[in-house]
Amino acid sequence: MDDMELEDVAKALVAPSKGILAADESTGTIKKRLDSINTPSTEETRRDYRELLLSTKGAGDFISGVILYDETIRQKATDGRPLTELIKAQGIIPGIKVDKGTKPLAFSDGELVTEGLDGLRERLNEYRELGARFAKWRAVIAIKDGIPSQYCIDVNSHALARYAALCQEAGLVPIVEPEVLMDGDHNIDECYAVTETTLKTVFDELYQQRVVLEQMLLKPNMVISGSDCPEQADVEEVASKTLYCFEQTVPAAVPGIVFLSGGQSEQQATMHLNAMNQMGKFPWEISYSFGRALQASALKTWQGKPENVEAAQAAFHHRAKLTSAARDGEYRPDME
Ligand code: 13P
Repeated sequence: MDDMELEDVAKALVAPSKGILAADESTGTIKKRLDSINTPSTEETRRDYRELLLSTKGAGDFISGVILYDETIRQKATDGRPLTELIKAQGIIPGIKVDKGTKPLAFSDGELVTEGLDGLRERLNEYRELGARFAKWRAVIAIKDGIPSQYCIDVNSHALARYAALCQEAGLVPIVEPEVLMDGDHNIDECYAVTETTLKTVFDELYQQRVVLEQMLLKPNMVISGSDCPEQADVEEVASKTLYCFEQTVPAAVPGIVFLSGGQSEQQATMHLNAMNQMGKFPWEISYSFGRALQASALKTWQGKPENVEAAQAAFHHRAKLTSAARDGEYRPDME
């Protein structure tokens, strides 16, 4: 795994039956997750939780890569091994979130820009030394009255492309994540329009900045109704509009599209992924890079208690297995 070419890493991350576990919650976000199970967020509990997921027996059958947070990639498992060693022993490729989160965008009301480019070349070199073979940078695009502006889409796309070029220079596969948020009461067609414009802008910037498409993965949102929209599009509509949107915007040279779950329930995200994979021929692999939709049941089962570790691992294994089935278009609700 250590001396794989970037194209091979990208392909391995979207191998049949496999996808990515996003376990790169920032310190603030993981605190929210641990608060939800009344568990204090300490360096140790965060390590215990990530170790629980990553040491699940058979996880490597369904998980090709894991996105880690800066703290996690430096942590050791309970047995003293670096967590990256435990991950590699499972046949899973370690990855790393390298953006530094969002800040309000100047001269814009309510839009965000992702930061983290300063010093990025040096940080990427260090992460590669620590074992990472791919990276992630998330840009956030919100839909509300009057937003997003093209200005917001442009600056975020420019930053995504600068990050992606630096990753390839450093020998890491960039996962390019422009997330159009599902928060709000907008309908699926508004989500389609914003996602299409965003992806067109992102791929234009990637081209301008000489990013090699064969050596990257795209991590987009699905084209979906806003979470407060009174008329929720059904599974078929989400799947067909999402695929149509990618046909219009994502070059065939990109090896894979790995979805974020973005606040969908575990089953909803699984059903959407499955429907797309059943819809037949397209030029890219269609897989997953889920955070919440792979972790929700495991987190709830764990409750921060050592006596629940085994049950939580069983819950994670079950969810990963179902998500993997959906990635192959072979999921059925009765498997739940
Ligand atoms: P969710 O699947 O919970 O949206 O997380 C994926 C992710 O990495 C967001 O950046």
